[in-house]
Amino acid sequence: MITLTTKLKKSTMLKVRFEKENRTIEVETGENLREAAIRNKFSIYPHITKILNCRGRGLCTACTVQVLSGKLDPRNETETDKLGKKPDDFRMACQVTVTDDLVVRTNP
Ligand code: FES
Repeated sequence: MITLTTKLKKSTMLKVRFEKENRTIEVETGENLREAAIRNKFSIYPHITKILNCRGRGLCTACTVQVLSGKLDPRNETETDKLGKKPDDFRMACQVTVTDDLVVRTNP
């Protein structure tokens, strides 16, 4: 007799919590953090940069967040260049690929 095992489909959705705003969004594994925020109608930009930002081109640093928990790949060249001597947990949301549940602080 053959026994069939049903495997539960593993969810590929991750959670990103924005600490200051106490808001959690669902993010697909591998999704860009800025784009995921936009898809969830959440603005990562402070003040006037809600309008005046580089739209994810890695030029303005207005999308900088502090990653309080969760694992990310190391900074890419753009982040290394633009964030300079800022702490290692400061990341540019437009350059971050989400592969883990995260807790982040906007406008650190
Ligand atoms: S949106 Fe301008 S650097 Fe990320």
